[in-house]
Amino acid sequence: MLTLISLLSLLPAALSLPLSKTVAISNPQPKTVSNRAAGDPTPFSLTDANSTLLRPAQFARVAYCSSASITAWDCGGPCDALKNITFLQSGGDQGKIPLYFIAHDAQDNSIVVAHEGTDAKNILSIVNDAEFGLVPLNVSRFPETAGKGITVHDGFQQTFERTADGLLAGVMAGIASTGATKVVVTGHSLGAALATMTGAMIKDAVDPSVAVSVTGFGLPRGGNAAWADFLDSGVGVTYMSNQQDPVPTVPPQFLGFQHSSGEIHIVDDSGTNIVACPGQDNEACSTGNSLLAASIPDHLGPYFDNITFGGSQCS
Ligand SMILES: *[C@@H]1O[C@H](CO)[C@@H](O)[C@H](O)[C@H]1NC(C)=O
Ligand SMILES: *[C@@H]1O[C@H](CO)[C@@H](O)[C@H](O)[C@H]1NC(C)=O
Ligand SMILES: *[C@@H]1O[C@H](CO)[C@@H](O)[C@H](O)[C@H]1NC(C)=O
Ligand SMILES: *[C@@H]1O[C@H](CO)[C@@H](O)[C@H](O)[C@H]1NC(C)=O
Repeated sequence: MLTLISLLSLLPAALSLPLSKTVAISNPQPKTVSNRAAGDPTPFSLTDANSTLLRPAQFARVAYCSSASITAWDCGGPCDALKNITFLQSGGDQGKIPLYFIAHDAQDNSIVVAHEGTDAKNILSIVNDAEFGLVPLNVSRFPETAGKGITVHDGFQQTFERTADGLLAGVMAGIASTGATKVVVTGHSLGAALATMTGAMIKDAVDPSVAVSVTGFGLPRGGNAAWADFLDSGVGVTYMSNQQDPVPTVPPQFLGFQHSSGEIHIVDDSGTNIVACPGQDNEACSTGNSLLAASIPDHLGPYFDNITFGGSQCS
């Protein structure tokens, strides 16, 4: 435990070098506290990544562009990569309340919700800040979770609640006006953490015939084991982690945080060596990463198909 705490205190130093990859020091990997791994990772092809993760990744990338350019669907490369999109609504801002947008994707008649993230330095201070501990999930929003002992990251829940009501109203109106049969919720970094809560909220509200999927990139842990189990049984989250990105390893398990299952891990920078990791917090994937090898550039990308997050590609 002491070792992990002192390792975490090294993170700010790693963060001050955002443009260069930190080099792995040949120390033994720190042992994490619990392991509920359900088996060995299996290969996940680029074909699979293209069919299940590429479009959510492209929408999550758009969420970093300016609100006005998203409204006009004129944000440069990230918008050009997505054809036949109808913008419906946005909320939040690009300051304290992170932006989200809702769009209709004609390709598969889906409503897409994408949450903006935050820069890598902010996400690590948000997740590691002592004042943001685990607090009870808002049971008035998720009545079916009463008595389940679910706790979530205080800061993520407060941020989620700031736009939740307007976002949900926009999604319901979007389904009604387009006849969409799917809702796709996506985000990177803080945006991925918000996407898990948004997905759970939408799943509760829509007709069961509407399929809801949640995809995240560079997802930090967002709650305790009961929250992870709730996401696994009721929502189903797929999240992609890239090599030595430290964000999926925080907040640490010894503080009571647990990932849901559904990790897809990028093993190296070849662009094709990707694995599916069974179970929650599989130590053969990012949970087993050494913080000594942490790479902030890996948080941003490229993930696969040259997908990189952050505003730099927006026009
Ligand atoms: C995946 O999609 C990218 C971008 O559309 C494309 O360049 C690549 O050939 C695709 N790869 C496979 C294996 O489908
Ligand atoms: C856009 O939508 C139109 C009409 O539904 C369709 O004909 C066209 O193939 C779509 N284009 C793309 C790139 O999906
Ligand atoms: C809890 O959720 C309800 C909606 O069900 C909302 O009105 C309320 O503001 C939320 N509470 C907090 C503390 O965010
Ligand atoms: C990858 O994306 C970057 C922008 O993020 C761009 O500058 C570069 O040309 C792209 N590379 C390829 C091979 O498409």
